[in-house]
Amino acid sequence: MSEKKGSELTYSDITPKGAFASRRNFLFGMAATGAAVGGWKYLPRWFSGPGKGSVPHPLSGVAKWPYDATDKVTPEGDVTTYNNFYEFGTDKSDPSQNAKNFQTSPWEVSVEGEVKKPLKLSMDDIMKIAPLEERIYRHRCVEAWSIVVPWIGYSFSHLIQKAEPTPKAKYVAFQSYYDTRQMPLGPQAGIAFPYVEGLRMDEAMNPLTLLCVGMYGETLPNQDGAPVRMVIPWKYGFKSIKSLVKIRFVKDMPPTTWNIEASNEYGFYANVNPNVDHPRWSQAKERRLGEFFRRPTLMFNGYADQVASMYAGMDLRKNF
Ligand code: MTE
Repeated sequence: MSEKKGSELTYSDITPKGAFASRRNFLFGMAATGAAVGGWKYLPRWFSGPGKGSVPHPLSGVAKWPYDATDKVTPEGDVTTYNNFYEFGTDKSDPSQNAKNFQTSPWEVSVEGEVKKPLKLSMDDIMKIAPLEERIYRHRCVEAWSIVVPWIGYSFSHLIQKAEPTPKAKYVAFQSYYDTRQMPLGPQAGIAFPYVEGLRMDEAMNPLTLLCVGMYGETLPNQDGAPVRMVIPWKYGFKSIKSLVKIRFVKDMPPTTWNIEASNEYGFYANVNPNVDHPRWSQAKERRLGEFFRRPTLMFNGYADQVASMYAGMDLRKNF
């Protein structure tokens, strides 16, 4: 068998349908070979052990996005061990522990609703829609911690164009994967699943809105939303829905998980806004993971130039 180079690998080479076990054995072989030729960096995660879920794989052929945040990138180890992914437990350390066996292959994303071209997309299809870019974005959680991550993906607008929404499409509704066989801690999380989120059409079309398939040079780790998630950098992190399975174009503002759970605390818009406190804490400052001192939070998380015009004339205290 002639080996493919990283740049020639398709997503199904990385995490193939069906024969996961035999592929895993192949990956064990690759890991050993990789270690011998200097790929040691990836070795610990290749060795996820028999019966375990998919593991991150290097992504190549990724272009550099020219508008990166110049802030220091957060160490990968912090971003992969301090997570919110309630399907895998509610403590920050739970997802990295409990998502290890999450099977993300095969995967299908359904694109439906008010579109001329409904789509059923495999990960290979998703990888082909537009060239991948590495974009260093600030990411601010509503709980006042933040991270700076080199995400990999492309503007979600490329997928929208492929589906050809009808003029009736005013919002996009997103839905995460949910299966208690894979997510046995879900029922204890105290919130309703599947996790759902939404964007207004112009927000979804904004070039910053990222359909994300990787980070730190590799496919997404399970705890960060493998195999495909959203990243919307001017909004609080809860808008950035993980492990996407459904994208539905709709006429009316769709329900969103945290708004369903506590509508006085979490609005539909959830734009990062240091001037609007969360009912239980201030949003004026944030703590970067890995840093000690808190820093002032920026309006729209520092992306005001690109996004503020979408909210002209709106009362952002009311539309929080
Ligand atoms: N997506 C799903 N499906 N389930 C979740 O619990 N948590 C959200 C968001 N997406 C969540 C989710 C919240 S509250 C945050 S802050 C971000 O994911 C965290 O992303 P990260 O763990 O990659 O930093």
